[in-house]
Amino acid sequence: MSKKLFIETLGCQMNARDTEHIIAELNQKNDYELTSSLEDADLIIINTCSVREKPVAKLFSELGNFNKKRKENAKIGVCGCTASHLGADIIKRAPYVDFVVGARNVSKISQAVEKKGTVQIDINHDETTYEFNEYRNSLYRASINISLGCDKQCTYCIVPATRGEEISIPPEIILKEIQRATQSGAREIFLLGQNVNNYGKYFSDQREKYTFTKLLQDISKIDDVKRIRFTSPHPLHMDDEFIEEFASNDKICKAIHVPLQSGSTKVLKDMKRGYTKEWFLNRCEKIRSKVPDVRISTDIIVGFPGESDEDFLDTLDVINKVKFDQIFNFKYSARPNTVAATMSNFVDDKIASQRLNQVIELHKKHQDELMDRFVSKVVNVYFDDLKPNGEISGYTDNYAQVFVQGSEELLGKFVDVKITQAYRTSLKGEIV
Ligand code: 5AD
Ligand code: SF4
Repeated sequence: MSKKLFIETLGCQMNARDTEHIIAELNQKNDYELTSSLEDADLIIINTCSVREKPVAKLFSELGNFNKKRKENAKIGVCGCTASHLGADIIKRAPYVDFVVGARNVSKISQAVEKKGTVQIDINHDETTYEFNEYRNSLYRASINISLGCDKQCTYCIVPATRGEEISIPPEIILKEIQRATQSGAREIFLLGQNVNNYGKYFSDQREKYTFTKLLQDISKIDDVKRIRFTSPHPLHMDDEFIEEFASNDKICKAIHVPLQSGSTKVLKDMKRGYTKEWFLNRCEKIRSKVPDVRISTDIIVGFPGESDEDFLDTLDVINKVKFDQIFNFKYSARPNTVAATMSNFVDDKIASQRLNQVIELHKKHQDELMDRFVSKVVNVYFDDLKPNGEISGYTDNYAQVFVQGSEELLGKFVDVKITQAYRTSLKGEIV
């Protein structure tokens, strides 16, 4: 009889994809089957995030909880970014943890579960084959890693220390994986990397020049791929060639994440982002002028060390000018071993909270305006999720979530829907 695996995932889409790889590896090499019951599990894994302090604190509260509820002899493992960052200290602090496997070491998971005390956290580890056994959460949208690690040195960010140097996965491996996903029915491909539009800069072998734009072109030649999404691109690498491809290639979904972080050129410089307020605005204007229906999302950090009232006004100014469809906003959180954590001019927490609220309130207004524009329009929806209340949901090409009354037959289908009602973060409609 198979053993049972319970796995909890914190953090970003990269982590969610790593979780799929962990499940596949443990299923096919170690005979584990997934369970949603912690108490039944023979192996409990938490795939962690370290981008801010909060998810790190969550790791230790969850570990305490696992230890209390686990059945006798159930193993506990810690994977992901906090595993990379804290390594053996995790076992020191929580001695009942059996193994620690970092975000760059997923291919070592199958050995680690068999050897108590394993700590695998080498961030220079090159995933040698990049290929894992197959498991996907969704039959319809397939996440595919195109690069690992990050070559930037943003002064606030811990990720280069947890996911290591940037390396591009060879295109032939990516294309093969996409073929495999389409054979199992996926029509939407979600390309993942820390800096997707820097793709092709670093391969582990010598090869001809190959860019992200070329990768998009090659993927769109696969007949069964109907939609291509990607995250995250870096504003610095959004050259005209890339924007041209984004605008003109019908298979590329017209939704794009353009992480701003701050609207102040001075703060951007202190963050070492490599672009100015003007460059950012120019890129967004260019995208909007070429793709009128585009939906743009962003990340914003408020309260970065030294951020003055004036700097923050620049952030509000960019928000007002671009009118983002979605903002992921964060209060700056000092991370160990980052340059920003050594800066002396920290912003008072109360001020940072006020700024966060201002961003949230302004964004709500824009969201309402932008979502209202959908009402009475007909949009094409790719349905991918059945809800318990007789509703089914999916996304438009430009990544608005749409709910309709409907059943299972709609799953995996592209269907025209007339929007009848707009909410702040989703839409309701009827099939036409
Ligand atoms: N504090 C707050 N937010 C952060 N992010 C990254 N590092 C930090 C930090 N130290 C945010 C950035 C990034 C997103 C994934 O998390 O906005 O784009
Ligand atoms: Fe993802 Fe960054 Fe969190 Fe790692 S630290 S899981 S890369 S968000």
